[in-house]
Amino acid sequence: MNSKGGNHTDLQRVREAFDAWADHYDADVAKGGGVVEGYDHSRLLASRLVSVYAGMHVADIGIGTGAFAEIFAQQSAQITGVDLSPRMLEICAARHPEWQLAVGDFLHIPASSASQGLVISSFAFHELAVADRAGAINECMRVLEPGGKFLLVDIMFEDLSRLRAARQRLRDSWDEENYSLFSELSELAGQLSLDIRLEVLSDLHGAALLSCR
Ligand SMILES: C[S@@+](CC[C@H](N)C(=O)[O-])C[C@H]1O[C@@H](n2cnc3c(N)ncnc32)[C@H](O)[C@@H]1O
Repeated sequence: MNSKGGNHTDLQRVREAFDAWADHYDADVAKGGGVVEGYDHSRLLASRLVSVYAGMHVADIGIGTGAFAEIFAQQSAQITGVDLSPRMLEICAARHPEWQLAVGDFLHIPASSASQGLVISSFAFHELAVADRAGAINECMRVLEPGGKFLLVDIMFEDLSRLRAARQRLRDSWDEENYSLFSELSELAGQLSLDIRLEVLSDLHGAALLSCR
């Protein structure tokens, strides 16, 4: 669904695609299959990479229907959710009327600078064109308090051979998108002078934990 290469993300196209998918998104993810296989397990594994305290401000970018943020809300975090798709947010709001939800995107997060203890994002980053990824990480870091971390979970691969193996395993159910490799995320972190920890969550999913040096 993303724009590839040097082009910028076609936000309208991505928004329309997710507005159209929103009403059956959760059912499709529960069915599994393709790159959404194991989303729940990967979100849970990734959540264990950070510690959360009661009342902590946690912003989820690309919150969708809210599945990742729910893990942190159960630990009494205060959730702010941002998404490009108004329909995804409507579904999320019906489930979690107590959360602060707003339309926005990775490059325009409607939150003040240094207002969040943790920024999280699951399975949304690959929707960004490569040219927008450094800017997106920068914007996530902008809203973090000093010492805060950005936990990014996505379809991502340790290297090209693992990406090819996953594509081969899934065959017809593979979705061709511009998925990140660990080396590309490390390079981005280096360019932005950030520390990064990378973790394999499954043969399809990984996590990056970014923080200021
Ligand atoms: C595959 S869904 C993942 C939703 C949820 N985080 C989850 O784990 O189930 C991707 C979500 O990211 C949103 N999204 C895509 N591109 C985005 C962008 N540039 N900024 C903010 N949200 C975006 C979509 O509207 C959609 O709700």
